This record gives sequence, C-alpha cells and structure tokens, in this order.
Amino acid sequence: MAPARTATTPIVLKKSSYYLLGTVAVIALAAIGLTRTTTTNELPAHSADASPGERIFWAGGCASCHATPVDGKRAKGDDKLLLGGGLELDTPFGVFHVPNISPHVEDGIGDWSMLEFVNAMQHGVSPDGRHYYPSFPYTSYAKMNTEDVMDLRAYLATLPEVAGTTPEHALDFPWSVRRGIGLWKRMNLKSDPVIDVAEDDEQLLLGRYLVESAGHCGECHTPRDGFGGMIASEWLGGAANPDGEGKVPDITPSGKNVSGWSASDIAYYLESGFTPDFDTVGGTMVAVQENMSRLSADDRAAIAAYLNAVPAAHPTN
Ligand code: HEC
Ligand code: HEC
Repeated sequence: MAPARTATTPIVLKKSSYYLLGTVAVIALAAIGLTRTTTTNELPAHSADASPGERIFWAGGCASCHATPVDGKRAKGDDKLLLGGGLELDTPFGVFHVPNISPHVEDGIGDWSMLEFVNAMQHGVSPDGRHYYPSFPYTSYAKMNTEDVMDLRAYLATLPEVAGTTPEHALDFPWSVRRGIGLWKRMNLKSDPVIDVAEDDEQLLLGRYLVESAGHCGECHTPRDGFGGMIASEWLGGAANPDGEGKVPDITPSGKNVSGWSASDIAYYLESGFTPDFDTVGGTMVAVQENMSRLSADDRAAIAAYLNAVPAAHPTN
C-alpha cells in the first residue's frame, strides 16, 4: 500500500476546467434561495462489497478529480488511489477546491455513515444538509443503482487515509450561495434513463447504465441549455469545450470520427487510447480513457454497443 500523502498545497491544473459542468444554472438561480432537500432515509438490504465497488470507482472516474495531484500534475498509477483532494477546478465562476474523500476520519469521509454517502452521491446533499455544486457530477451518479453506490463506498474505505483539508471554494457572488442549487436540482436531477433501449438487450442495458450513470460521459459530451441542464435531444452530440480549445466531439453515430468506427473500434479506443487511424486520445479524454482501460472487456464492449445504438445527434451531418 502506498504511503499517505498530505494534501495541503493546492495545485492548479487548468486542464480540469471542463468540470464546471452545470454551474451556469446555479448562477441564474442562486439568488432564489430554495432550501428544499430531497434525501433518502432508507437503504436497500444489501451488504456492501468492496470488490465490485472497485469497478464502479474506475467507471465513475472519482480519481480524475479527487486524487491529489503530484508535482502539479494529474496523479498516475497508484497515486490515483490517494484521494486527498487538492485539485483546483478553475472556472469562470471561481475556483472549486476538490475535497478530500479518503477514509481519513477528520479530514476525509472516514466517519460518514453509508446513508450520508448515498445522499451525497445520489441527491447531492451533504451530511449537514447543504446542497453540493454540480461540479461534483451527482446528476449522473443519481442514475446509479444504490447497491453499486454502497459497494463503491466499501471500496473507498479500503484506500489509504490521506491527511489534509482543502480550502473553501473561492466563488463569486451569487455562485457562492448554495441554497439556489435546490431549484436547479429539481430541474436537472433525474434518476430515469435518457435513452430508450430494447429492454431485453442485456448488452445495451449495461452500456446505457455505464455511460449514463457512473461514466458521466454526458457531462462533457452533451451540450447544455441556458440553465446548465443537458439537452436530451442532443444527447452525446458534442459540446463546447470549457478549456476553450475546440469542441468535445459528437460520439453518436453522426460524430465526425466515430461515424466511421465499428463497435470494436470504439472498445479498442477505450482500452488503448488509439483510434482506428492510430491517432492517440488527447485532452480531458485521456484520464477517462485510463479509467476505461481498468474495466472489463465486456464493460467496454457494452459501452461501445450503446454508443453505436444511440440516436444520431446531428443526422444531417
Ligand atoms: C468532475 C470532478 C469530480 C468527479 C469526477 C467526482 N467528484 Fe466528488 N466532488 C467534486 C467536487 C468539486 C466536490 C465539492 C462539491 C461541493 O463542495 O459542493 C465533490 C464532492 C464530493 C463528495 C463530498 C465531500 C465532502 O467533504 O462533502 C463526495 C463524497 C464525493 N465528491 C465523492 C465522489 C466519488 C465517490 C466520485 C466517483 C464516483 C466522485 N466524487 C467524482 C468533484 C468531482
Ligand atoms: C472530461 C470530459 C470528458 C468525459 C467525462 C468523457 N469524455 Fe470522451 N472525449 C472528451 C474529449 C475532450 C474528447 C476528444 C479527445 C481528443 O481530442 O483526442 C473525447 C473523445 C471521445 C471519443 C472519441 C471521439 C472522436 O471523435 O475522436 C470517444 C469514443 C469518447 N470520448 C467516449 C467517451 C465515453 C464512452 C465517455 C464516458 C465513459 C466519455 N467519453 C467521457 C472529453 C470527455
């Protein structure tokens, strides 16, 4: 096991700025001040198991945001398991400091109950009842099975404790007001699937589950409306790149590149980072691809099958 590292020095990693996600909406609504929180008071009868939880961890990309950067760079290899936070998400609304979610009792989430964890992941509510900002992509995680969230929690509990807390987010008013997120959530937090697939096609159902929930692929690949909600009719149809460089590509069958890719080409890309033309994956997709390479071949094949089956977002391209 790797030694614990202290996450006290904040490190700016510009490339992470895609994570501003639905924050636009929070802005518009922050001043309204709705305080309603919806949480669950019950857990399913399930005994949480760390081993399937590891799969959910990689599918969910938790390390991409929560692993403590090393020498100012994104953590690699085993350092991805040190979830001390410290990454700064530099957005137009201010700076988010990704928190410590290691099992450290004082500084991380070591003393959280299972219910508190589930409410954070699926309802965007903290143990003390505050709304989380959607820069934590719980709008996607809300679509996960609660049993998987519980297994994920069991896996996180096996990771090294990391000491150190991160500073408060430095957001400008009115974004600094968390209450407004309540209304935004009522518009955007939905647990039902986005795309209809044949209910007897196990592979498509699995692919849909991995892409729409844990994988949170839509958070980057789907364009957003004026309130920061993902536009369902253009699901995965490509979006502005908050890094300011180019666009996040359309990955439906109308995508410029993927329209020419078979399902096995897509699966190979997710496994290796190579396109059929032996180009290599770039930008913010690099971390996602590294996570995908940790999944099973069946999981990647299911994701690829789903991407080939979703409606073309721009059929006239
Ligand atoms: C896109 C970046 C990003 C990803 C990916 C991400 N998170 Fe987070 N997470 C955040 C941010 C930012 C916050 C702080 C939100 C706030 O303060 O409102 C946060 C907060 C949390 C919290 C609350 C911590 C606290 O101290 O209150 C938990 C728990 C959490 N994340 C778990 C996870 C897990 C588990 C995963 C993987 C399934 C994950 N996160 C993936 C960015 C991310
Ligand atoms: C952090 C934002 C982000 C997330 C999350 C994300 N992607 Fe991407 N994705 C990108 C970017 C940026 C590119 C372009 C990469 C490049 O330029 O090499 C890309 C490229 C791709 C491509 C190749 C498309 C092309 O035209 O070259 C596929 C396929 C893909 N992503 C699938 C996925 C899947 C499946 C998921 C969810 C498991 C996902 N992405 C999640 C940002 C993201």
